[in-house]
Amino acid sequence: MSKNATLEIDGKKYEFPVIEGTENEVAINIKTLRAATDGVITIDPGYKNTGSCESAITFLDGEKGVLRYRGYSIEELAEKADFLEVAYLLIFGELPTTEQLAKFDSDIKNQSHVDEDVKKILDGFPKSAHPMGVLASLTSALIAFNPTSVNVDSEEEMYNAIVRIMAKFPVLCAWAYRKNAGLPLDYGDDNLGYVDNFLKMMFKKPSGEYNSNKVMVNALDKLLILHADHEQNCSTSTVRIVGSSHAGLFASLSAGMSALWGPLHGGANQAVIEMLEAIKADGGDTKKYMAKAKDKNDPFRLMGFGHRVYKNFDPRAKIIKVAADEVLNDLGVEDPILEIAKGLEKEALSDPYFVDRKLYPNVDFYSGIIYRAMGIPVEMFTAMFALGRLPGWVAQWKEMRLRKEPIGRPRQIYIGENHRPFKSIDNR
Ligand code: ACO
Repeated sequence: MSKNATLEIDGKKYEFPVIEGTENEVAINIKTLRAATDGVITIDPGYKNTGSCESAITFLDGEKGVLRYRGYSIEELAEKADFLEVAYLLIFGELPTTEQLAKFDSDIKNQSHVDEDVKKILDGFPKSAHPMGVLASLTSALIAFNPTSVNVDSEEEMYNAIVRIMAKFPVLCAWAYRKNAGLPLDYGDDNLGYVDNFLKMMFKKPSGEYNSNKVMVNALDKLLILHADHEQNCSTSTVRIVGSSHAGLFASLSAGMSALWGPLHGGANQAVIEMLEAIKADGGDTKKYMAKAKDKNDPFRLMGFGHRVYKNFDPRAKIIKVAADEVLNDLGVEDPILEIAKGLEKEALSDPYFVDRKLYPNVDFYSGIIYRAMGIPVEMFTAMFALGRLPGWVAQWKEMRLRKEPIGRPRQIYIGENHRPFKSIDNR
């Protein structure tokens, strides 16, 4: 039976349909609100109560700590699938068959070259440029090398555009790092898997061989899977809203990267390590920093703690915490900041300030420790997040275009000056 919600304004009642998702999430559909009420809108800064779309890609329940891609639990995917399979699942809706996966893999390999002229753009950046700025710019620059816009009604064109970005983005990521590290660019090796090849492009020394390291490949594969999608977060919403103007896929992705860069979003993984380093340099006194995080007059926040939707625990953080221990063990790395991280987590989990506000470690609290153990520098952490999130952004962009969603254009409540006469410059 269909349900309605009733809204009363100045004694007048309006009915709006209530819609329900496949996991019983409930929303009031206010599509007709403004027209029916003669101009009334809703206001919800930060969109804490606003659903921007219906989506069949990712389900998460922040209260129960559940995360599923296309119905499959993140725990099972992280354990049993590889990143390319998960990317296919997110983008095309089903886990690939052996043939589909082989074709996806070989189509990506066939597109893994980046126009040599892209190097000239890369060379224009100072060595000190942050890789996220370089990546957002180079992704946008790819438009110039692929100028025809994708006809989203053509399955073939859509597929080709997806394969192109899945192939070229890891190259851009690795090149952003090598430029920063003063290393000559590397072209990868088609005989290697997607993640292994990325690690080769990052770490192969100009004068040496590249030797695959299974522990590193598995750890990075898992991290990328855990970051692959997270429904309507800040960067994904950015990708969808930019794409809703029918700007192309690469332009939409570039905008998403800029959104991800911020320290309240994907930039948190870098901020966590910087915070842990600062605590270590300051004598390792975790209690002092716990006090700072709770002090409302101090802008310091415990980076890697809290999440807009997870108010119980972040299921990705649980998997990563275990992986961090394993990877450091397997690689024989001893990192004192892992102990500081564990200490902070222990204190926070029993501190009423954090417990009352339901602040738990998020995905980024431990991911940086793994990246560090792998030899990935801290400035590259958010770029690693972007590499993982790429299939999620692509899937969300594709869904938005195929559902023919209208252009995203929120309204506002104006709180500025009322109409006033122009003041000539001598009277101001
Ligand atoms: N340290 C200390 N206090 C915190 C923290 C924190 N990390 N996070 C939230 N709080 C406090 C706030 O001060 C606020 O307290 P109040 O109710 O007394 O005013 C309360 O908890 C609620 O916080 P909000 O900022 O309103 O929560 P919101 O949902 O808007 O923010 C966010 C979520 C941005 C993730 C926040 O928790 C934060 O800044 N965390 C640190 C940055 C971080 O780790 N970001 C990564 C997010 S995960 C990702 O993007 C992959």
